[in-house]
Amino acid sequence: APTALRLTPVAGRIGALVHDIRLGGDLPAGTVAALEAALYEHKVLFFRGQQHLDDAGQEAFARLLGQPVGHPTVPSADGRYIFELDATKGVRANNWHTDVTFVPSYPKASILRSLEVPPAGGSTVWANTAAAYRDLPAPLKTLAESLRAVHTNDYDYAARLALRPELADNAEVARLFRDVFVSTAFRTEHPVVRVHPVTGEKTLLLGAFAQRVQGVSGDDSKALIDLFQRYVERLENTVRWDWQVGDVAIWDNRATQHYAVADYGDEPRLVRRITLDGDLPVGVDG
Ligand code: SIN
Repeated sequence: APTALRLTPVAGRIGALVHDIRLGGDLPAGTVAALEAALYEHKVLFFRGQQHLDDAGQEAFARLLGQPVGHPTVPSADGRYIFELDATKGVRANNWHTDVTFVPSYPKASILRSLEVPPAGGSTVWANTAAAYRDLPAPLKTLAESLRAVHTNDYDYAARLALRPELADNAEVARLFRDVFVSTAFRTEHPVVRVHPVTGEKTLLLGAFAQRVQGVSGDDSKALIDLFQRYVERLENTVRWDWQVGDVAIWDNRATQHYAVADYGDEPRLVRRITLDGDLPVGVDG
């Protein structure tokens, strides 16, 4: 039977802080079951004070929840599964996205550990994509359910950088990272409304890799994606986390998007992520 966890919600619709737990590969099955249930309910779980975790410990813990999977293009930082986001190398995930949706069976969850935080800023914001779907008026629900979107890692990052002067200083490093990120171009099609395989909730499946709607031309595609994406980004559907060194966040990558706020200039920020193997998205028609 699942062990009871002590949880405090962090926002009204998404996110909970889990207390009194030391993460690692040795957690009892009842605790793991309780963590999984809490993850599906709250979409993102936060843990303070996990400085004892190293890469191996993070992987051992991750294995209790699923099968770690490497990034499709970016080499791992430890020769295994660690995906490193190092701001000093220009790696800043400051766009709304769900991890790795440009492959067919994208990850079901991610586990992120904080190693270095800037003196101020550098928070991450998550959005509940099931709540976003529920917020849609009925006619838009019907429309979204009828659409499929093309997700790709190969899109015009340069245009995004140009639109964001605050990133100009890092444009060169960001371009280098981009070259690695798109060293193999992936393109896949997903339903815009994904039925969550565990909770049965309908979720909006979009984010930065969703570049167009199948069967809809350029400007109209963009308008449709923006229309639905606005519901994801509604502040009511989000939670913001201010990192301390040693924090860990786990998110349900089938029911969330996230955005790493790049408001800390040239200060260092370092996080390491492990993602867990996922499954093919299923739309409302099965
Ligand atoms: C990510 O996009 O997975 C990393 C988020 C972060 O850097 O906070």
